[in-house]
Amino acid sequence: MPSRVQRAVSNAMSATNERYPAANTMVIFGASGDLTNRKLIPALYNLAADGFLPKDFAVIGFARRAKTDESYRDETYEAVKEFSRSKPINETVWQDFAQRLHYAQSDYGNPDDYEALNVRLQEIDKAHGTLGNRLYYLATPPEAYRTIIEHIGRSSLCKDCQGSWARIIVEKPFGNDLESARELNTHTHQWFREDQIYRIDHYLGKETVQNILVFRFANGIYEPIWNRRYVDHVQITVAEDIGVGNRGSYYDHAGVVRDIIQNHMLQLVALTAMEPPVEFAADDVRNEKVKVMKALRVDSSRGDGTIRGQYGPGKSGNALVKGYTQEEGVPPESATETYLAMKLFIDNWRWAGVPFYVRSGKRLPKRVTEIAIQFKMPPLLLFSDKMGQQIEPNTLALNIQPDEGISLKFGSKVPGSGEKIMPVIMDFKYGESFNVPAPDAYERLLLDCMLGDSTLFTRSDEVETAWAILDPVLQKWERGTGSFIELYRAGTWGPKQADDFIRADGREWRVL
Ligand SMILES: NC(=O)c1ccc[n+]([C@@H]2O[C@H](COP(=O)([O-])OP(=O)(O)OC[C@H]3O[C@@H](n4cnc5c(N)ncnc54)[C@H](OP(=O)(O)O)[C@@H]3O)[C@@H](O)[C@H]2O)c1
Repeated sequence: MPSRVQRAVSNAMSATNERYPAANTMVIFGASGDLTNRKLIPALYNLAADGFLPKDFAVIGFARRAKTDESYRDETYEAVKEFSRSKPINETVWQDFAQRLHYAQSDYGNPDDYEALNVRLQEIDKAHGTLGNRLYYLATPPEAYRTIIEHIGRSSLCKDCQGSWARIIVEKPFGNDLESARELNTHTHQWFREDQIYRIDHYLGKETVQNILVFRFANGIYEPIWNRRYVDHVQITVAEDIGVGNRGSYYDHAGVVRDIIQNHMLQLVALTAMEPPVEFAADDVRNEKVKVMKALRVDSSRGDGTIRGQYGPGKSGNALVKGYTQEEGVPPESATETYLAMKLFIDNWRWAGVPFYVRSGKRLPKRVTEIAIQFKMPPLLLFSDKMGQQIEPNTLALNIQPDEGISLKFGSKVPGSGEKIMPVIMDFKYGESFNVPAPDAYERLLLDCMLGDSTLFTRSDEVETAWAILDPVLQKWERGTGSFIELYRAGTWGPKQADDFIRADGREWRVL
């Protein structure tokens, strides 16, 4: 067991350097999966390379396939080589990092494997000085969450005692609808306190997503116009150019609502619309997000308020691509939506009557995530009827990915042209202004969890409120009383009905 002095030193180091976590062991359930290889292990390696990982740190990979520590290290080396943001691999950092990686061949349904894990963890505490602090990461199929949580709980692996801590990161999706999310929360709370549970939505780890709050609340000039008096409407787009790839069978149960809208999209809406928190602290920020979500409603003045689509065959760039129902793992008769557009209202004093149009889909023409705030026109159009010109409204675009930045569109006089006005763009680009690569979202979130900072993780009530907004829509679809699924050609901006939908309000989707 680590001594009191060891713990005190580690905690003190952590307290004096606000981004230096205490010693810990991270157990990755799903150690050989796609998420672990593409994101988690490269993120840990980059944290090590940047000096953010504690000196006393270890990983135990938990999965069924037979591996030794050595073969697991060799495999993760290949993953880091392929997926790390910083290349080439720094061999000195790697050598130190690799000897902290361990593998436990285990089945998450087998209680004995948790007892064996407990023994292994104690050995690792001795070997690496990890002080009994545990971080469990559920990178397994969601069906496994309940079982793993229960086994961890029953084997007392979740107890934080004698000054050490135990935390659990649960991947998305957290539940499949409101009822299952509630049930999973109740189940998890049987074994873990809320402050030990970190529900991850990797969008919140993106620098540009965090910058929404910095932009709004660290600058004095935007807040006064960030409301129904000045904003005509808000458009949020989360577009992917890829199809479902080899995740067809997962996606067919999820669809775009469970894959993107319930988590990433509603988080973007909440960050755009929330009130300033009293402090930038986990519960203050999350309280404000929950308030927005409680005031959110899907506008159902026309049909069920949604436009649903599914991609058919078409093009991605110049390549011909399959339609959704021809993809591997997708039943040919599937009625799962790969596109959704809808209009939301936020019934509070700041936003009453301002539509938030959101759209997301797969196999759209490009990969782009953007929040656009379109402002109202000036009250008196002094220049609009001169030379038949149309003045365009001011638009502030927060580009989340891939061209991270912020741009403001405004009208400007064309030089020497009398009173001709043209829209121009004032542009801020992250890459050009800071000239340093942004860390991957998982780096930020893993570090925050080790530091015990849950600001960028979703709280139980937040997850449930998000489901409560969408549940009525999902239920209508299940009963067959919701919107039809319209086919759209791969490589286009979704079904034509989505254009008609926004045009009915006298507005247009932004051209991206
Ligand atoms: N992949 C992504 O980009 C991504 C993005 C966001 C969220 N997520 C979420 O992350 C989670 C993991 O996704 P993934 O794509 O990485 O899944 P995956 O590639 O299917 O990996 C699943 C992992 O679980 C292990 N596993 C399966 N059954 C097991 C059992 N009975 N006992 C022990 N281990 C078992 C597998 O290893 P063995 O076969 O060796 O047991 C494998 O390591 C999912 O909840 C997903 O929704 C994934």
